[in-house]
Amino acid sequence: MATIGTDIQQAKHLLQNGELVAIPTETVYGLAADATNVKAVAKIFEVKDRPRFDPLIVHVASRDHLVKYVKSIPVKATLLAEKFWPGPLTLLLQKQPIIPDLVTSGLDTVGVRCPDHALTRRLLAELDFPLAAPSANPFGYVSPTTAAHVEDQLGEKIPYILDGGQSRVGIESTIVGFEDDRVIVHRLGGLSIDDIEAVVGSLTVQTQSTSNPTAPGQLSSHYAPRKKVVIGDIDKLLHANNGNRVGILSFEKDFGSAHQCILSPSGNVQEAAQNLFSALRMLDAMPIDVIITAFVPPEGLGLAINDRLKRAAH
Ligand code: TXA
Ligand code: MG
Repeated sequence: MATIGTDIQQAKHLLQNGELVAIPTETVYGLAADATNVKAVAKIFEVKDRPRFDPLIVHVASRDHLVKYVKSIPVKATLLAEKFWPGPLTLLLQKQPIIPDLVTSGLDTVGVRCPDHALTRRLLAELDFPLAAPSANPFGYVSPTTAAHVEDQLGEKIPYILDGGQSRVGIESTIVGFEDDRVIVHRLGGLSIDDIEAVVGSLTVQTQSTSNPTAPGQLSSHYAPRKKVVIGDIDKLLHANNGNRVGILSFEKDFGSAHQCILSPSGNVQEAAQNLFSALRMLDAMPIDVIITAFVPPEGLGLAINDRLKRAAH
């Protein structure tokens, strides 16, 4: 059984010994290992049941550490890191040999980010290696946003969960790559497109599932609960599902059902993002057959929420 606590020294010792520790971040909880230790990184893939073609994100204490792990930093990447780190932004950069191929699934780029969570930043500052950490859930399932979510699914398989409370942002980081002078968004996430464009100008969004197996965050089905998810007009779906045991995931409206989760009663997309994955987990545990939901307003983080809903419904 995992111990749940806030003991940074214990987390540090486990990580130094090649063990896994679940860590809180502002986006979702990560399942962390020493990114420079191949054996430790291999445990991540085992515990998550994750295919080895799915590369991991490497977490660093600050921008100053980047030079050790990446070969070069495009000007636009520097601008973004200066503006948004620590924060929910992952940059894809050319990796140095110290980052094992297992971490990047053989790609020559590595995803790096500096997470914005006090406990995890203190931990990173004490370590002389960066942390490889995917979301701390079994492959394909909804990401965890509390220590209890991690405990529920991976508690038997890992020694320690660093408890940093509920994740503030609630959805995974936005992933950005650089090709020549172009900025490409590979995964919508906790930092909005508008915020990124304000710094680097116009960009390309390339998040559709492709035949490229190196980015499963882009697989059509991902971030999915076990129950079937259907998206549309909730009133019409309620009518169409008359006779089924239905759970409702609504943005702001109260449908007066015992089996419903309201993402943000005040209609705020940030609050909705924060509650999304907890709500999907709660509905998954209810005595229902189908989860019906509707897209949220497609602005700011609403775009990332709708992306996750689509993948959950696939
Ligand atoms: O917010 C987050 O990003 C969280 C927290 C823990 O930091 N992490 C996270 O990791 O969501 P994960 O493993 O669940 O998703 C990482 C995704 C991969 O599925 C892949 O799509 C993409 O990041 N990725 C990582 N490295 C990449 C690379 N070199 N090239 C392309 N995509 C990459
Ligand atoms: Mg994940």
